[in-house]
Amino acid sequence: MGNVLVTGGAGYIGSHACKALRAAGMTPVTFDNLSTGWRDAVKFGPFVYGDLLDRPVLDTVFEEYSPVAVMHFAALSLVGESMRDPGLYWRNNVSGSLNLIEAAVAAGCRTFVFSSTCATYGEQDNVVLDETAAQQPINAYGASKRAIEDMLRDFEASHGLRHVIFRYFNVAGADPEGEVGEFHRPETHLVPLILDAIDGKRDALTIFGTDYDTPDGTCIRDYVHVGDLVDAHVLGLKWLQEGGESRVFNLGTGTGFSVREVLDESRAVTNRAVPVVEGPRRPGDCTRLVSGSTRAEAELGWHPRRSTMKQMITDAWRWHQTGHYEG
Ligand code: UFG
Repeated sequence: MGNVLVTGGAGYIGSHACKALRAAGMTPVTFDNLSTGWRDAVKFGPFVYGDLLDRPVLDTVFEEYSPVAVMHFAALSLVGESMRDPGLYWRNNVSGSLNLIEAAVAAGCRTFVFSSTCATYGEQDNVVLDETAAQQPINAYGASKRAIEDMLRDFEASHGLRHVIFRYFNVAGADPEGEVGEFHRPETHLVPLILDAIDGKRDALTIFGTDYDTPDGTCIRDYVHVGDLVDAHVLGLKWLQEGGESRVFNLGTGTGFSVREVLDESRAVTNRAVPVVEGPRRPGDCTRLVSGSTRAEAELGWHPRRSTMKQMITDAWRWHQTGHYEG
């Protein structure tokens, strides 16, 4: 069924996508600079070490593997970091994606699945966001992803680059079989940080802000199991391969959880106490980001099957206790 070039295939979501592609009969070719990914996470197909800013290497990869499609995960993705160093985000994410898109169309590869983010929406009044909500990012990370979305539309008009854009909400959990999981250094994401605090790898979980306009004062997010998320990517790829037109899909469950609710569920699943301290707000954080998944369900037939908070924490906890990468 062909090679699929997976940029960022050594990262958290990319590695799970590689496993899903392999299960669907395709060969994932991971392209990664290992700046935030792990060589040990590349288990389901060939690995090419390289950077998106290096166009000649990209051209070589397209020539060598003749991928039928690209799944583009590689990006810097930390809101706080993007506020401190926006140049890093514009260079790495936007210039890197431009190189990738130009290399793809030059090689005649015109099927593209892109990992975007709810951070492109910014702060919204809507309780549940759909894909038609205005995109007004409040941080450089979201702005960089919005720019890449625009780029894809332009290259569709000029070169026929058909694409599916997925705007993720918060991703959590791990492969239930424990082959791959979430492992960031440094870690900034809520669920793995809570698990670190539970087993003493850090002193406590700091809640970033308890004065938000939400029922318990903490931020609300829509969490999706990484396995459900990557299933959507395989469906998106099939959609394009079967002649579907370019589309944007939100990937969320429509249910929001506050930071305190995630803490409560983590206590319940692990049956352990979580040391917590209350801290100030983190710059760039929105109060509430919750998505519907109506469009992905209706058009792709996507159904989040594992995205209960209990299942996500159960799978993350299993990985946390047994899995890690050395390099
Ligand atoms: N949080 C804490 N303490 C921590 C870490 C996080 O209270 O130590 C809170 C955050 O303030 C936020 C929630 O937990 O309310 C989730 O935070 P994460 O850092 O896990 O995730 P974000 O919502 O910041 O980030 C996710 C994706 C980003 C994306 C962003 C959009 O990881 O790629 O959603 O806002 F840009």
